[in-house]
Amino acid sequence: MHGGKVNMKVLIVGSGGREHAIATSVAKSPKVDKIYCAPGNAGIGLIAECVPIGAMEFDKIVAFAKEKEIDLTIVGMDDPLVGGLVDELNNAGLRAFGPKKNAAILEGSKAFSKDLMKKYNIPTAAYETFDDADAAIAYLEKADFPIVLKADGLALGKGVLICNTLEEAKDGVKSIMLDKQFGSAGNRLVVEEFMTGREVSVLSYVDGKTIKTMTSAQDHKRAKDGDQGLNTGGMGTFSPSPFYTEEVDEFCKKYIYQATVDAMAAEGREFKGIIFFGLMLTEKGPRVLEYNARFGDPEAQVVLPRMKNDIIEVMEACIDGTLDTVDLQFEDNAAVCVVLASDGYPVSYEKGLLIKGLEKFDGKDGYYCFHAGTKQTEEGIVTNGGRVLGITAKGKDLKEARANAYEATKWVEFANKYMRNDIGKAIDEA
Ligand code: AMP
Ligand code: GLY
Repeated sequence: MHGGKVNMKVLIVGSGGREHAIATSVAKSPKVDKIYCAPGNAGIGLIAECVPIGAMEFDKIVAFAKEKEIDLTIVGMDDPLVGGLVDELNNAGLRAFGPKKNAAILEGSKAFSKDLMKKYNIPTAAYETFDDADAAIAYLEKADFPIVLKADGLALGKGVLICNTLEEAKDGVKSIMLDKQFGSAGNRLVVEEFMTGREVSVLSYVDGKTIKTMTSAQDHKRAKDGDQGLNTGGMGTFSPSPFYTEEVDEFCKKYIYQATVDAMAAEGREFKGIIFFGLMLTEKGPRVLEYNARFGDPEAQVVLPRMKNDIIEVMEACIDGTLDTVDLQFEDNAAVCVVLASDGYPVSYEKGLLIKGLEKFDGKDGYYCFHAGTKQTEEGIVTNGGRVLGITAKGKDLKEARANAYEATKWVEFANKYMRNDIGKAIDEA
């Protein structure tokens, strides 16, 4: 069943701000009658029916999708994609959006993605891969610093260490490979050349052969203003990036985007879903920092509100291999997302605090309050995670969007509310 089906039932798998942004786009589709989300959160619960099934409970997800006759399951998160949820849904005769396990490895193994880029001449940092800590240290003893250590597998975006000295690098090898700080993700280690430049995120829809890139975005990964503090999942985003020029786009179209899709196909790993290109604009040109096999979080919170297309039509075209017929379009404006976090994130923080003012977003065009870590209780909606809300606002340009987003951060309150005050500061330098 595909093409022009209406009265669709859609299931979204995940529970963050990204899944709330996806659900918000899905809710706008005239083709969709009913949205479920597993497990979802309090905000998603306002537009979808949340079901208490975890994203890694594959048997339960498949059984639920069969029972409810779900027409399309959208897998938002990396773990279930890398674990093969799309394969299990397909095997049960169900349609799903996202790469199969053999393609999600593009995100699931950094060693795989680096080898792929090397084999197909896709520009990226020089690297070596190690299965053995002693060999890694012997290599580092002769290396130039700074240098970058990456745990091979998924590590919640935290498995990357930038080391300025040999001592730091030795400690890094120990914590990743021997102490297994990131679990089995650290069984292999990628040691990478350190690069400098601005970072840009480009998300794209892929149908196995055709790729259509979305408008660009930039994330702010560190916890504190001025890019200080620990790495987080992302503290805020803006879109488009003024540094993503036509020239950069042309380079990436020529050497990176289609080349990646073709490389995956040539390896017998046809990729259907979202490829997220983490790019660094170096002096020598754009380089791939990393691939993800899903929407970015919080990149989705600024990119999706600007997308003009019906997201269901685009996703179905990816599944059916007809993306070449889709005219992907974005609004000629800008969006900024400021994450409201719990003070102490990403280390330790209090949860269960009442959130006030959420109703102020009702009916406000161009403003969005995407829930990440929230929970519905009898007292109301309370905080339930490190990243609590993503406050997104649009504007005619980036400066207006930024002013609007920061204004809207004042509408909601909770006791340990924390945010960065410099999201989008870089646009002043453009
Ligand atoms: P990743 O999870 O691979 O995106 O890495 C997380 C962050 O580490 C990136 O957003 C960059 O800021 C930084 N990073 C990763 N690889 C490199 C590199 N080769 N050189 C400099 N910084 C890097
Ligand atoms: N914001 C970066 C990511 O989703 O990986």
